[in-house]
Amino acid sequence: ILSAILACDCLTKDDVLVYTVATEETDGYLRYMDSAKEFGIKPNILGFGQEWKGGKEIRTKPGGGWKINLLKEALQKHKDESDKVVLFTDAYDVIFSNNLDEILKNFKATGAKVLFGAEPFCWPNPELAPMYPEVKDGKRFLNSGLYMGYVPELLKLLYRKSIGDDEDDQLYFTEAYLDETFRESIKMKLDHTSTLFQNLNGATSEIEIYVNESKDKKIPEKYVVKNYFTHTEPMVIHGNGFSKLTLNYLGNYVPNMWNSLEGCIKCKERTLNLANQPVKAMPLVYMAIFIEVNTPFLEEGLQKVYNLDYPKERMHLFIHNAAKYHTSLVKNFTEKYASEYLSFKQILAEDGTPEWTARDLSLDQSTAKNVDWYFSLDSIVHLDNPQTLRLLIEQNRSVVAPLLVRSGKAWSNFWGALTKDGFYARSKDYLEIVYNKKRGLWNVPFITNAYLVRASIIKRYDRSILTYNKPDTDPDMAFCRTFRELNIFLYVSNRVDFGHLINADNFDVTLAEPEMYQIFDNEMDWEARYIHEDYQNNFAPGRVDKQPCPDVYWFPIVSLRFCNSLISMMESYGKWSAGTSYDERLEGGYEAVPTRDIHMNQVGWEPHWLKFLQKYVRPLQEKVFLGEEGQAKTYIDTWCGVDIG
Ligand code: UDX
Repeated sequence: ILSAILACDCLTKDDVLVYTVATEETDGYLRYMDSAKEFGIKPNILGFGQEWKGGKEIRTKPGGGWKINLLKEALQKHKDESDKVVLFTDAYDVIFSNNLDEILKNFKATGAKVLFGAEPFCWPNPELAPMYPEVKDGKRFLNSGLYMGYVPELLKLLYRKSIGDDEDDQLYFTEAYLDETFRESIKMKLDHTSTLFQNLNGATSEIEIYVNESKDKKIPEKYVVKNYFTHTEPMVIHGNGFSKLTLNYLGNYVPNMWNSLEGCIKCKERTLNLANQPVKAMPLVYMAIFIEVNTPFLEEGLQKVYNLDYPKERMHLFIHNAAKYHTSLVKNFTEKYASEYLSFKQILAEDGTPEWTARDLSLDQSTAKNVDWYFSLDSIVHLDNPQTLRLLIEQNRSVVAPLLVRSGKAWSNFWGALTKDGFYARSKDYLEIVYNKKRGLWNVPFITNAYLVRASIIKRYDRSILTYNKPDTDPDMAFCRTFRELNIFLYVSNRVDFGHLINADNFDVTLAEPEMYQIFDNEMDWEARYIHEDYQNNFAPGRVDKQPCPDVYWFPIVSLRFCNSLISMMESYGKWSAGTSYDERLEGGYEAVPTRDIHMNQVGWEPHWLKFLQKYVRPLQEKVFLGEEGQAKTYIDTWCGVDIG
């Protein structure tokens, strides 16, 4: 006994054999390996490159016996090493959050020879629940995704009975645990309070990310997972069952994935470099544009797509236009540019093709064209950064969206969290990401409007699985749900600025010049189209303003397009006043200075006009008529009345 105790006490991290099963290099596997690398842990990967034999739909149905059989086989060569300890973890939904020294120390402190993680659900056989010993604190039931044990005791457990590859590993271990004599014989215990193992399912509300700030501002802060319910800092975290999204969130920070000094750390790994690629070697892209709603400033949006710095001879172009209003705009665009792309396919508004059918078709087309990447863009997307496509490809992830936000709003193209029924919920860091207070590459549950997908994924899953068409679900929600079910990570990147989103909610195409009315909803785009390109120079230091006569100044304020649009708005309205001193539009009916005109409120444009005066004209007036603040409206009304007249 004494020699055994002494042997145990001298165990070091080098005596810990870490095993996992991973049949392929999924996103979850890469995250697992990243976290292991962070602590110098080198897991032995079992089953890699083989077909999964552990039963279909492992997440929802019993299975996983194969994991036991693989481990039994692997441990054969260690069967006589009684001083070794084995740590087994699942791979796709596990991250390490501490090193092997600490893990070993905590394991030894439990007094167990074999220790399993615990969870609050008795799965897969709930009838066994009453047979479990009662516990005062923590979770009562066994989970088979994380366990640790000395080789001899663990081998006894693994060889207790035989198990079929597709039978359930959790049931196997549960039965062993419920056999009291056996349990005691191998000192098998559950980590009820998560001192070591944290299974997240049923415990997500107990978990917080804790930030360990350093006093030295040059040393970045560290993020650790804390269980506030059990007051522990678990060291291996398992997003079992339906808690995978919580693990995805934690995995954005833990361990050392992001900090405020270096930004995202792992996002710089496994990237591509397209910088010196000859055009012929550039990845092939299938770019699909979806115009599903009437969209303000689509003309500029499409132009930015065309301006992407990527060789068009390596891009296929697909356009689905469901908005008849945009027919001539799309026609102009395609007549001018489509021939430059490798191929071009369009579905016209007249065809009446539903959105999900068009989207599914574009996926099939991308497979037929044998491309490397599928790039989906909605009409409300403005890619202001011409490097967007290049940067997203270089990021080299399964799915990545550029962060796009409605300017000045918190509305973006991703969700940081989901409600139980799959709708929008706000993650703690949502606003920090949206406002770029935190920049990085974020694993999130939902992205939309613009994203790049590795084409091999689209090839692998046909339209019976990967489809936009699911009953009672929006196309983008259906698409993201499938990715979540397949455990393929959806990343959103704000490592740099990529562009912004248009707000198409109040775009009234029955108006003449409808974009002129968008000064409130899409201020930035309104300004880009309608304000003179030299406007800002009016405020340049030392600028001498043109003054054709005393007290009169000339400034570049609006663009030619503004003038043409204003004229077009008025002419299409067409009801000019009589130009006499009787004017029925005025209270009292008397007009002291009659002109033939149309009032802004007659075309529903008064609030827009006043906003324009406030934002663009008033600062100029204040600049030249110091001390006469407040008179801008009078001056400009007069000036503009003359101009229009
Ligand atoms: C839960 C339990 O925690 C687990 O021990 C039991 O085997 C099944 O139910 P869960 O987290 O929901 O597991 O399943 P999931 O992570 O999807 O699969 C378990 C593990 O099996 C993966 O993490 C991975 O390590 C391995 N696996 C699964 C593969 O290697 N290839 C596959 O195709 C599927």
